[in-house]
Amino acid sequence: MPNIRLCHVDELDPVEGQSFELADGSAVVVFKRGARVLAWHNNCPHRGIRLEWQPNQFLDDEKQFIQCATHGALFGVEDGVCVAGPCPGEQLSPLPCRVEQGVVYLQQNRS
Ligand code: FES
Repeated sequence: MPNIRLCHVDELDPVEGQSFELADGSAVVVFKRGARVLAWHNNCPHRGIRLEWQPNQFLDDEKQFIQCATHGALFGVEDGVCVAGPCPGEQLSPLPCRVEQGVVYLQQNRS
């Protein structure tokens, strides 16, 4: 499967996440942290629903953790691990991504 082009890395906010809809109907949230780009399935492990309460609003008030809008679970931006809320220790599902010549790609490993 070809890699999926998401955006130019400069289009990502330096703090807040950016949501992308994929052709298969799933959604991805992408964060930029310095030179790194992190991608997670936009899917809360508590109930399997989307995380955000408004478009591209994923972080808590302190802009420190990803916060699920439904029951308030908090997840680390860099490790996806739930640190508070109804599903402690569970993790967002990571998606491999890379930046090539300034363009962010999701790597498709599915066969
Ligand atoms: S659905 Fe996310 S915390 Fe319940």
